[in-house]
Amino acid sequence: MNTPPIDASAIERAAEVLRSGGLVALPTETVYGLAADADNEDAVRKLFAAKGRPADHPVIVHVDGTDAFDTWAKDVSDDARALGRAFWPGPLTLVLTRAARVRDVVTGGQDTVGLRAPAHPWARAVLRVFGGALAAPSANSFGRVSPTTAQHVIDDLGIKPRGRIDLVLDGGACPVGIESTIVDVSGAKPTLLRPGSITREQLQRALGREVTDAGAAAPRASGRLEKHYSPHTPLSVVPADELAAQLAKPSNERLAVLAPLSLLEKCRADVALAIAAPDRADDYARLLYSSLHRLDTSGAARLVVAAPPTGPQWDAVNDRLRRAQVGTANT
Ligand code: TXA
Ligand code: MG
Repeated sequence: MNTPPIDASAIERAAEVLRSGGLVALPTETVYGLAADADNEDAVRKLFAAKGRPADHPVIVHVDGTDAFDTWAKDVSDDARALGRAFWPGPLTLVLTRAARVRDVVTGGQDTVGLRAPAHPWARAVLRVFGGALAAPSANSFGRVSPTTAQHVIDDLGIKPRGRIDLVLDGGACPVGIESTIVDVSGAKPTLLRPGSITREQLQRALGREVTDAGAAAPRASGRLEKHYSPHTPLSVVPADELAAQLAKPSNERLAVLAPLSLLEKCRADVALAIAAPDRADDYARLLYSSLHRLDTSGAARLVVAAPPTGPQWDAVNDRLRRAQVGTANT
């Protein structure tokens, strides 16, 4: 993956915008985030407005590393510290009991806060130069596909005066491609709230204990809404054999397809776009959102994705595809 060298003057400018309460889209290893000064309530409110996100959905606070635990959280458990040591900086968000410093607007009024130390060199440079912590959800309109390039952000949110944000830092395509794994370590038992590239098995190995799946009892978190990560065009995920049959039949409906190469070879000539699905889970995840963005703008009437394999490595990809599908099935 090509991460361009850090542009020091762009980082300086970003820190300046953040200090004056503005909004900066920046690359992280997972997806692009829309960042605001976590200590500035007005800036965080602007962030919700730019995304069109309901005020009661908490945002993740991005920090420099495990030293920030005791600034932003209290009663930090041994589990939390062990996970921070094992996976930070990296694509893992830890939900902890919030410290007094954390604003209500950041947590949506909940008594917990999500903390993450991103690994992307550009995000780390902004954090270092800015010197504080950054509230940052994914830099997309609420409910839409997350951005993995600067262009995705520009196309969706846009830059002022015509768009909604002050600055976009272009640090290349995101190397992980899907949002961080979220683990709630605020209670007695660590609980997985959102699957990501760090798997439940990896978390359990680092902790030497079970990490339970949240199920329906999870606190409100937009990543857990059924309708989420949706392209504008209706999308269906179909088993490979069904897809092969669909592709063999002539039809008036223009399709755009994401499927393994072996299936694409059976594609009708009139598909709007066909993208070959990688067979490794990490490659698939990296390309998932950019593929959805491409399929969505191909002019197709319907997007069809061959169901990926199942198993722990594929949990995060299958989770995002399931939500992308639910999001458009009835609209
Ligand atoms: O990889 C990521 O996590 C990206 C990059 C930018 O860091 N960020 C991201 O943010 O995906 P967002 O806001 O799009 O998704 C964060 C999820 C939301 O579903 C939010 O509700 C949940 O984390 N969340 C944040 N704080 C929480 C808390 N205290 N308790 C439970 N869920 C929380
Ligand atoms: Mg998001």
